Amino acid sequence: MLVLDQIVKTFGGIRAVDGVSFEVNRGEIVALIGPNGSGKSTTLNLITRVYPLTSGRITFDHRDLTQLATHKIIHTGIARTFQNIRLFNNLTVWENVWVAARQDHGHTGWQRWFRKDRATRDWIDEILGYCHLDARRHDLAGNLSFGEARRLEVARGMATNPTLLMLDEPAAGMSGSEIGELIDTIRTLQQRGATILLIDHVLDLVMNVAERVVVLNFGRKLAEGPPAQIQANAEVRAAYLGTKET
Ligand SMILES: Nc1ncnc2c1ncn2[C@@H]1O[C@H](COP(=O)(O)OP(=O)(O)OP(=O)(O)O)[C@@H](O)[C@H]1O
Ligand SMILES: [Mg+2]
Repeated sequence: MLVLDQIVKTFGGIRAVDGVSFEVNRGEIVALIGPNGSGKSTTLNLITRVYPLTSGRITFDHRDLTQLATHKIIHTGIARTFQNIRLFNNLTVWENVWVAARQDHGHTGWQRWFRKDRATRDWIDEILGYCHLDARRHDLAGNLSFGEARRLEVARGMATNPTLLMLDEPAAGMSGSEIGELIDTIRTLQQRGATILLIDHVLDLVMNVAERVVVLNFGRKLAEGPPAQIQANAEVRAAYLGTKET
């Protein structure tokens, strides 16, 4: 479904992403891991066209994303969250999801839904349920705990009903029980039909939910495989698992 083919991004002299190729198949949860500065967020930024590629090709459902503008990416069915939380703190939890849902103007399959207010509300309620935020729906986003704010980011990503949801470090700074809830949420989203590309340093999360793990190191792909195989890989352990920040 998503195919990255030899993608390269240079910033001045830095090869932030240096010839990376991998695929994400429909319905899969793929994790992208690697040490700080290994090019994970840049890869997401290339997929969503925050930056143009230096070289290589990215296709999504056989469509070349390389020529699309950032604001058009959402209409292809790709949504993302950001490493730094970006919420409207002066709006309620419900309103934050609603604002995100309204961005989905061009996503034809669901256009109908968002014209009907009742259906929009039902959809938002459904998402808040998946993200364990029902009880907080009327609270201001600014009053949420860290874990709740992260889950609200995920809810906002889900609001556009994406085919592919990309999460950039959703578990960063979370407590153990918050990570447990996030694992639950991610599994529910997958059961609902979402395909997920997950970046995180929190290996409890990654190794629990991902079916396949891609490891980056210095902008290059170091390894790819099922979680157990990645955890046992000596090169990965040396590059990453020994220096993990959790
Ligand atoms: N806009 C930019 N301008 C210049 N250099 C950048 C830019 N964005 C990223 N870089 C550099 O590219 C490299 C990869 O950064 P990136 O943010 O993709 O790493 P990351 O794997 O997401 O790391 P982290 O785990 O810390 O989030 C780093 O050396 C970073 O400094
Ligand atoms: Mg990053």
